Amino acid sequence: MAKEKKVIKSKPPVKEVPVKVVPKEKVIAPPRTSSAPELLRGMRDILPAEQKYWRFLRKTAEDFAVAYGFDCIETPIMEPTNLFVRAVGKQTDIVEKEMYSFDDQGGERVTLRPEATASIVRAYLSHGMFNIPQPVKLWYEGPMFRYERPQAGRSREFHQVGFEILGEAKPAVDAELIIVGNAFLRALGVAASVQVNSIGHAGCREPFKAALLQHYRARRSEICEDCKRRLTRNPLRVLDCKIPECQPVKNSAPQIVDHLCDDCRTHFMKVLEILDEADVPYVLTPHLVRGLDYYGRTVFEYVPVGGEEGAQSALGAGGRYDGLADILGGRATPAAGFSFGMERIIARMREANAPVPELPAPSIFLAQLGEHARRKAFALFEKLRAAGIRSAANFSKESLKQQMEIAGKLGVRYALILGQKEVLEGTLIIRDMDSGVQEIVGYEKAIEELRRKLG
Ligand code: HAM
Repeated sequence: MAKEKKVIKSKPPVKEVPVKVVPKEKVIAPPRTSSAPELLRGMRDILPAEQKYWRFLRKTAEDFAVAYGFDCIETPIMEPTNLFVRAVGKQTDIVEKEMYSFDDQGGERVTLRPEATASIVRAYLSHGMFNIPQPVKLWYEGPMFRYERPQAGRSREFHQVGFEILGEAKPAVDAELIIVGNAFLRALGVAASVQVNSIGHAGCREPFKAALLQHYRARRSEICEDCKRRLTRNPLRVLDCKIPECQPVKNSAPQIVDHLCDDCRTHFMKVLEILDEADVPYVLTPHLVRGLDYYGRTVFEYVPVGGEEGAQSALGAGGRYDGLADILGGRATPAAGFSFGMERIIARMREANAPVPELPAPSIFLAQLGEHARRKAFALFEKLRAAGIRSAANFSKESLKQQMEIAGKLGVRYALILGQKEVLEGTLIIRDMDSGVQEIVGYEKAIEELRRKLG
């Protein structure tokens, strides 16, 4: 391949270092009693202090979707188990050990989705999206569930944001997705590189599997028990093994790019040419095969660069899955996509101190004094909100002093004070929080006056 100089050998995986989440406000945990409900292992709450990252991530995803013409889709969190067994593959870690599956009250075997691509293809087929102009570009975001051993960067409930393009076989689609993902991470201030490979179509993989088997069988004594098992069941999966003792065997294993047929080779070269043209750096990674069975041809993973040593897990991954619609019993539909792990991206954003916008701060605090004024304050607050004046209030506080203290902490420019006297007179006090100067305005004129003052 033309890009040989960029080929790197996969590094042995290093344990991830947890990213410390420092809450903005100290959350005091209630005293624990033996009957206090606990979170399930591998699941966590996303507290208010962390929400600015999630908001920014979701907003950026939506901006990218709009810019690149992806429509939003939401699919159920729970689907028939069979969907994932067929799509992801019976002999994958996900299906063999990681699915949350159970029989529902009607006796149907159901599964909490471990990933979303299977559902997207199911939705594409069941809604006849092949009848609308192709390609169909969809994006989604939401929780996924995998019963994995929890550790930093790996949980049992996690969130993905993903982009899929269905109904188009051209290499430009693979390249577009890689480019979108790359730009997305940059927009979030996350440094990552994209590893790419082609695993060809099924016809390329058969001779490759035979070569792989031969290589691994000759060095059987040097590999882990899992790999021995994988060899007999699904030989490609040995290349997913992250155990250090298996790496020397893996590093010297045959490479699938050497087994690609002319069509798959040309497809891959075209993808790389477009990436070159777009100046998107990539790393050819000959042993990247991905852990889900539906892939064919291009596969890729975004891996973080720099940052704390150990945070090696992929931030996101994807590839082409031209055979999936067919596997699910629908009409053959070429397709490709990728998804990002949102928790992993946020961990990197925090680590890199990536700038994240805060919610716009309120410029007004509405204080009320007395029962009558409080009732009127609700209506006034709603008027302020409707007028687009970002305001704060604390309707349960009765003392003006306390309310002014809150206003001071919030750093608002003006406090609006509505007391018993003002209600009777149909007025309001506007207090400039910096100078302490107060002026009285008519209740009906308050919004206009505030608009003028706030510019
Ligand atoms: P995946 O590689 O299984 O691919 O997952 C994609 C990303 O989800 C990973 O790179 C990682 O960031 C995140 N992720 C996966 N498992 C966990 C976990 N247990 N805890 C935290 N984050 C996790 C897929 O799911 C494919 N559906 C991607 C795709 C879309 N291919 C084509 N279209």
